Amino acid sequence: MNFNKIAIIGGTGLTQLNELEIDSERVIETPLGPTSGKVTEGRWHGRDIVFLARHGHPHSVPPHKINYRANLLALQQCGVDAMVAVNAVGGITPAMVSGHIALPHQVIDYTWGRESTYFDGEFKPLDHIDLTHPYDETLRQLLLAAANESNLVVSPTCVYGATQGPRLETIAEISRMERDGCDLVGMTGMPEAALARELGIPYASVCLVVNPAAGKADGEITMDEIRAVLNGGMEQVKEVLSSLLKG
Ligand code: HPA
Repeated sequence: MNFNKIAIIGGTGLTQLNELEIDSERVIETPLGPTSGKVTEGRWHGRDIVFLARHGHPHSVPPHKINYRANLLALQQCGVDAMVAVNAVGGITPAMVSGHIALPHQVIDYTWGRESTYFDGEFKPLDHIDLTHPYDETLRQLLLAAANESNLVVSPTCVYGATQGPRLETIAEISRMERDGCDLVGMTGMPEAALARELGIPYASVCLVVNPAAGKADGEITMDEIRAVLNGGMEQVKEVLSSLLKG
């Protein structure tokens, strides 16, 4: 594999990585404020890993209050040369059933009011980065190969729609997102992907579908239903990460 030190950004259902042989666990101060929680450095399958729980551990920081800029800056300070994000999402299009794993290749950002750039004229001078392909294709292909290695059926391409949360969506919002071309809906994919690009660090996401999006199944979406899928699903996500690191 062409990467030496990989950051794993854990999402809902992955707030710690028990498999890690821990070297250090520390708070990292950044010029842009605190991260969501402690940054853990260690080894998994003999590879250098930096783990950060996006919502903190225990899970407490809501999607719109995450200091994405500080999180990614801290990971950069640790010297990572790739970032793999894990995201729990709702499924919009028919293939995106609960338990399914998908590797987005595109994103649409519906979030608002988040600190979403380093190039704000304060932290760094204004600049406009290219985001034509928001996810790193080399890293995506490595994840796809890792999933195949684990005999998991994954969607190799799909469009992630990032919503503000923390509430879930209305049926009309999901219909609009589907018309826009979104396959998945989640609350944390942006500005994370854009910030990684601003830092120049290859970034890709492994998405686990944990519920049908609003209106895509009978009844309402319950946290119980989501939790039931998360438990087994994250084990599969970890298998993909394992295969990636062994490769
Ligand atoms: N909508 C937005 N974010 C989500 C969902 C959803 O249905 N499920 C998990 N994260």
